[in-house]
Amino acid sequence: MAESGEEIIRLEHVYKIFGPQPRGRALTLAKSGLTKNEVQAATDHVVGMTDVSFSVNQGEIFVIMGLSGSGKSTAIRTVNKLHDITDGHVYVDGVDVQALDGTALQQFRREKMGMVFQHFALFPHRSVIDNTGYGLKVQKVDKATRDAASLEALKLVGLEAFAHNSPRQLSGGMQQRVGLARALAADPDILLMDEAFSALDPLIRRQMQDEMMAIQNQLQKTILFITHDLNEALRIGDRVCIMKDGAVVQIGTPEEILTQPATGYVAEFVQDVDQGRVIDVETIMREPVTIDGRGTIAEALEKMGDEPGAFVVDENGRPTGLLTPEDAMRAAQMGTTDVGACSRNDFESTSASRTFNEVYAAAGRGLSIAVLGESGKLVGVLHPTDMMEEMGRVEQLIDGFEREVFM
Ligand SMILES: Nc1ncnc2c1ncn2[C@@H]1O[C@H](COP(=O)(O)OP(=O)(O)OP(=O)(O)O)[C@@H](O)[C@H]1O
Ligand SMILES: [Mg+2]
Repeated sequence: MAESGEEIIRLEHVYKIFGPQPRGRALTLAKSGLTKNEVQAATDHVVGMTDVSFSVNQGEIFVIMGLSGSGKSTAIRTVNKLHDITDGHVYVDGVDVQALDGTALQQFRREKMGMVFQHFALFPHRSVIDNTGYGLKVQKVDKATRDAASLEALKLVGLEAFAHNSPRQLSGGMQQRVGLARALAADPDILLMDEAFSALDPLIRRQMQDEMMAIQNQLQKTILFITHDLNEALRIGDRVCIMKDGAVVQIGTPEEILTQPATGYVAEFVQDVDQGRVIDVETIMREPVTIDGRGTIAEALEKMGDEPGAFVVDENGRPTGLLTPEDAMRAAQMGTTDVGACSRNDFESTSASRTFNEVYAAAGRGLSIAVLGESGKLVGVLHPTDMMEEMGRVEQLIDGFEREVFM
């Protein structure tokens, strides 16, 4: 099996054409760069995927995001060969998936991956635990082993108490959890999840996302997750692949997608997203200016230059006070000369890995925020003005794209 962080799934220039002659002119045209619509107009064939390449690393949550019809389900189905592809290659853990057939394919699917769908059906007359262990039963695993594995999986999704209930006694969210448990019961390396949470209420959905991320953290599964919701993609994805009309538009971390959208199309999506949730403090913190707590205000102001704040640090590098130019001026007018007397100690602090949203309230005070590293050392400073600027940057990007497109 692939080591953590190593590539486990790879799609190489994959094309999937739907129609009576998928390998005919439609493929030639798609390969020459014609869009899905153009190929369809010329040949009456539907382009499901065109020149799709991406790779997913072991232990990663890789999200494919796109509107309805963009090719997400087609892409995920090539990974377990529910679809034959028209051209290209698909490798899973070094195995050429398209070359598999018959029992080899069946065995490969069972051992390597579990699938969870949006509307996945539970057997109404079987108990929750039997539903969970169904895949194992198909694999002829004996009942005791199967029940033990199922119970373990139900524990992971918080449903062990319902093991012997009927699925009809469960809410929609709980049923979806059984779906996840069923996929986990066989302990596959890879989970393929196609809109697995899309039918759930927003709050339940969030909860499921959190639980899935916790499970992934614990078990280090590789998850290929499909959604049409960019918020969901950015929330759970280590990396996100955006698809449009069967093609890959951009692959990147949530932060890259938000701050460097590759095209106007991505930028438009991003416009609706709460960026504060994804951008972290480290991205925009600055090198801190430190001043001597026993020095004079004049010296401090000179060292600060245009900075909106500077920190007094102790001998261990921990911030003990914040001096703002306003406080310094006021103190100077009142005849105070030393920094210690006019620096404030009610400043806010955070860490580099926090998101914008987590420091948003603190930034509302308008004061520079100390960014602390290990053992409370000052490693950076976050200026509320920089935060506002960063938030506005994506909007500007979008304006830029619009100008490019319309002028
Ligand atoms: N079996 C099929 N026969 C013909 N065309 C198909 C088939 N399956 C998918 N398509 C077409 O391929 C394209 C991609 O479909 P796909 O189901 O992958 O989209 P999707 O991104 O999963 O959309 P959704 O969000 O609606 O699930 C669509 O234009 C669709 O109509
Ligand atoms: Mg789909």
